[in-house]
Amino acid sequence: MKQKIIEVKDLNFSYPDNTKALKNINFSVFQGENLAIIGPNGAGKSTLLLHLNGVLRGEGAVSIFGEKLSKDNIKNIRARVGMVFQDPNDQLFMPTVFDDIAFGLLNLGMDRENIVFKVNQVISNLGLKTYKKKAPHHLSLGEKKKVSLATVLVLEPEILVFDEPTISLDPGSKRIFMELIKKIPKTKTKIIATHDIDLAWKLCPRILLLDKGRVITEGNARDVLMDKELLEAHNLEVPPSLMMEHSGGKQDIRKIRKKRPPFSSRKIKQPLQKGWINR
Ligand SMILES: Nc1ncnc2c1ncn2[C@@H]1O[C@H](COP(=O)(O)OP(=O)(O)O)[C@@H](O)[C@H]1O
Ligand SMILES: [Mg+2]
Repeated sequence: MKQKIIEVKDLNFSYPDNTKALKNINFSVFQGENLAIIGPNGAGKSTLLLHLNGVLRGEGAVSIFGEKLSKDNIKNIRARVGMVFQDPNDQLFMPTVFDDIAFGLLNLGMDRENIVFKVNQVISNLGLKTYKKKAPHHLSLGEKKKVSLATVLVLEPEILVFDEPTISLDPGSKRIFMELIKKIPKTKTKIIATHDIDLAWKLCPRILLLDKGRVITEGNARDVLMDKELLEAHNLEVPPSLMMEHSGGKQDIRKIRKKRPPFSSRKIKQPLQKGWINR
């Protein structure tokens, strides 16, 4: 049995203006798991994530690596839980990409030689070489997201938390960012908060559905994400990729592809119709 790495018990949280954002939240996460926390806007996803590294402290208990979060262990636990924020501008503030990635290591007091080695390693792994010396605020959103991920990965946390990782990205940048998440070693535990159900389906075998500050359900991705009525009741919808799989769409496409000869041979076999070419 895998180790329980996060345990949230009876967690309640209200913002100073009395908005009750989390109501009696209970769930656990196991080592190496990819868990998606899904829910519509305002469900409480970001608020919940901010409890996992102690930025927010509600009533109830949040235990990480078997230790209840407290003032005494917060620094140590933060170093082991890396958070990739929804808005990279909240994460990047140094004059260059290199400096931003180095910042956390510098804070830990690591020596210069080691910092340069580790930063260059992450830069190379994530394909960031071309903008290493650039100012982060000059980068596109997709590039900024990659740099944000680098600032977290360089610290080698055991748990990675992503808040809406693909929000506002164009389809190409979304694909690239999802591939980067997929490449993170499987031993790392990943928690992804998103209202992009397609992303949840592609990356996470287990789902926690949150709405109005409460856990509505949790379970196997296929069971939760195929439940059209449930998703629609919470302003979400079944991901197109999953719907296509279930309707046999994928098989149909394969059959069509098999039946149709490749374009080049179709061209050779079909004689040009009279009158077509000069039309
Ligand atoms: N700083 C804040 N002060 C007061 N209310 C807040 C604050 N941040 C979020 N909320 C409220 O808390 C609830 C949950 O918000 P949030 O955690 O951001 O949801 P999600 O990430 O699922 O969109 C919402 O009702 C939101 O309006
Ligand atoms: Mg949010």
